[in-house]
Amino acid sequence: MILHCFKNAAELDKVAADFMLALVRAKPNAVLGLATGSTPVGAYQHMVQAYQQGTVSFSQVKTVNLDEYVGLAVDHPESYRQFMQTQLFNHIDIKPENTHVPNGMATDIAAECRRYDDVLSQQGTVDMQFLGLGLNGHIGFNEPNDSLSRFTHQVTLQPETRLANQRFFNSLDEVPTHALSMGMGSILHAKTILLVVKGASKAAILDRALNGPITTQVPASLLQMHPRVIVLTDCDVSYKCCNG
Ligand code: F6R
Repeated sequence: MILHCFKNAAELDKVAADFMLALVRAKPNAVLGLATGSTPVGAYQHMVQAYQQGTVSFSQVKTVNLDEYVGLAVDHPESYRQFMQTQLFNHIDIKPENTHVPNGMATDIAAECRRYDDVLSQQGTVDMQFLGLGLNGHIGFNEPNDSLSRFTHQVTLQPETRLANQRFFNSLDEVPTHALSMGMGSILHAKTILLVVKGASKAAILDRALNGPITTQVPASLLQMHPRVIVLTDCDVSYKCCNG
């Protein structure tokens, strides 16, 4: 595991984007695992900029997203499909058919989970998986639990997660109660994992994830078993590393 700490979030965003851009330049048909939420927004902006400057093409890239809310239509402003369109896909030359997000509107959820796992297999191994970190240690929407799922599954979002995501909605009631998430097995299967963590509120949980026992109660702690994890944090998370 390699840990890099940055003086500010802007620097961190640029480096996170540079990891993915370097991969795509070296391997134009790379498979990227992507996340939503506030963490990747700055990195996606840098990726869009690089495309607009003509220094990269995504025309052969394939993407798979970690998760989607159950019950939000693809054109709902807070659906993760919509997030990906507005933050990244609409501004680069990626082929729409090469972008994959679970369908949270599926009537048969079990069938949708199976379909998404088939989609994941068809793309081949994810070259780089971008991950944010939930306040409770979730990655994707794999919430702390007595056991974790290997495959794509429906999750009941924990009150803490719904509360954290309330900021994107008008009220807590509007935050979906369920989501579909890529399983831990699929996440850990990625060749490289880029875990990006910002803000003092995540310092304690990052410490538990990186240095605590490996436990299903802190899903991110399973990353300790992965051979190639790059952790990017800002000073607020790792003040010790920034202050020497
Ligand atoms: C989003 C996802 C989540 C978020 C996490 C952190 O696709 O999988 O695990 O990365 O909830 O969210 P933010 O970045 O909003 O703090």
